[in-house]
Amino acid sequence: MCGIIGYIGERECSNLILEGLRRLEYRGYDSAGIAVISDGDFDIRRAAGKLDRLATSLAGEPLHGTVGIGHTRWATHGAPTEQNAHPHRAGDIVVVHNGIIENHRELLRELIASGHEFLSETDTEIVAHLVRRERAAGLDLRASVRAALQHVEGAYAIAVMDCQHPDTIVAAKNASPLVVGLGENENFIASDIPAILNHTRNVVFLDEGQMLELTRSGVTFFRIDDGSPFEPEVKHISWTPAMAEKGGYKHFMLKEIHEQPRAVTDTMRERIRLESGQVDLPELTLTAESLSNIHRAVVIACGTSWHAGMVGEYLIEQFARIPVEVELASEFRYRHPVVDEHTLVIAVSQSGETADTIAALKESKSHGAHVLAICNVVGSTITRLADSVVLTHAGPEVSVASTKAFTTQIVALYLLAVRLGQVRGLLDAERSTQLLQDLVEVPIHMEAMLHEGEATYLEMAKRFSHSANMLYLGRGLSFPIALEGALKLKELSYIHAEGYAAGEMKHGPIALIEESVPSVFVCPDGPNFEKTVGNIAEIKARGGPVIAVTCVNGKAALEAEADFVLTVPSSPEHTQVLLTSLPMQLIAYHIADFKGTDVDQPRNLAKSVTVE
Ligand code: G6P
Repeated sequence: MCGIIGYIGERECSNLILEGLRRLEYRGYDSAGIAVISDGDFDIRRAAGKLDRLATSLAGEPLHGTVGIGHTRWATHGAPTEQNAHPHRAGDIVVVHNGIIENHRELLRELIASGHEFLSETDTEIVAHLVRRERAAGLDLRASVRAALQHVEGAYAIAVMDCQHPDTIVAAKNASPLVVGLGENENFIASDIPAILNHTRNVVFLDEGQMLELTRSGVTFFRIDDGSPFEPEVKHISWTPAMAEKGGYKHFMLKEIHEQPRAVTDTMRERIRLESGQVDLPELTLTAESLSNIHRAVVIACGTSWHAGMVGEYLIEQFARIPVEVELASEFRYRHPVVDEHTLVIAVSQSGETADTIAALKESKSHGAHVLAICNVVGSTITRLADSVVLTHAGPEVSVASTKAFTTQIVALYLLAVRLGQVRGLLDAERSTQLLQDLVEVPIHMEAMLHEGEATYLEMAKRFSHSANMLYLGRGLSFPIALEGALKLKELSYIHAEGYAAGEMKHGPIALIEESVPSVFVCPDGPNFEKTVGNIAEIKARGGPVIAVTCVNGKAALEAEADFVLTVPSSPEHTQVLLTSLPMQLIAYHIADFKGTDVDQPRNLAKSVTVE
């Protein structure tokens, strides 16, 4: 949600900033803008809508300067108009901001009473005025920003420039992500690494309450509260810029779907010892003794990550016999949760920046729970707050709809479940080896699946893209996959879709069934197969079209019932979830692509939901 980039160096920067903003598009936005310092004044260009509108405006009349900031805005306060787009100016100051200033009403009243005039409806403009007020009182830019922030409550990553001091950008972070890129005679700030990856791989992740002053020759870091300086840890990023590009696919989402064999392999890499059946998770800092003292586990997550958590619940309960609850982080944080030092809290998040998951994590820690993060982004807030971190190593996920981040989360949870089962003495070497062998085979099956079946998806997309409603049904481990399938479809295609436990079908959703309401059944081999086939027959008897996702073994039985049958290779129940996830993603992708919606950046959605 909102993207920030800042540059100071020797190059003309407006195109560099625009390119950086393009790499932050995935975060979700509805307007954009850039400010550069040019001959002691600002040149500011803003546009409502997608970046192409800003790009066209810049192509017609370029901005010139070697220091500048840019922003993609996801509207919270005020409509997505040019007037409300960032950067916001107050006198010699401009500001871009990601987050929400919670006490903005109070600050606005105070500033208006002392004569400040506002041009937008945003909370951000207030920050520009607060900094301007401190500058007028004689403080330098860095001190002014720090003083202004003492009045601000809420979440922010901000970048500030003063056109009278063109050799500096000041930035600060509290609860919204900000990363610093270190170059040669040039330096960068951004909301996320892909924005600067073409220019540098040496980065610093800012922590809460930290600020910096960026000049061409260097960066100084200090704390917002007392102004004290500190030396940060510089990290080297191993992702290549190509890893963040589309690589020949029509959409990032399609590329990321196809990357899953590689991504899940990377999640397993160096964590599995097949010969001994061991799982190596040195990142899990709890001792074997503390692990065996865990009484229960609670998964906290949002969106797609919550669905991965549900799969984790089944796996941990099955392999380790530890009771697991899966909580929506946005609910958990406000309801006096019961967690203590014997609870393992598992925070699942692809971005590591989801505001609700961060708050739920902090709440858990305050009760003494050990928090394990399962996350894809190195250095993100959740990884820094957690006690243990298992990285999923999916590589950058650009498409807003999560795909490879989801399946790699499941792999990480699977490894955790096996590890817990071993520590608790429930899985012997033979069983562990078998479970790990099953997992190792997943990428091979995925690879095979991704090379066939496109024609069926295209035909299905043609037939169902005009549907207004769709149902997704599954039992057992296929239930969270059905929920995820429904979420993917509604996110991408704007078709209303509901996921249901197939056993609940007769308790409500069956009332919706008619010729215009297709149902997707996740129906692989296993103990639930026959029951689910029974549900399919009930839908068909009422005239509802059926898409069945099943294993090769079930194909013949289902072809007699379903309108479309998509097959996944036969595999044990606990790894089938990883395989049946792919048709869920592909159904949504092809229907959305056929409809012509914005697959990689669906309307109103953001990749990283950094506000409540
Ligand atoms: C947003 C994204 C989803 C994601 C959810 C949770 O809604 O669009 O793809 O599942 O946030 O994000 P997280 O980064 O915590 O997994």
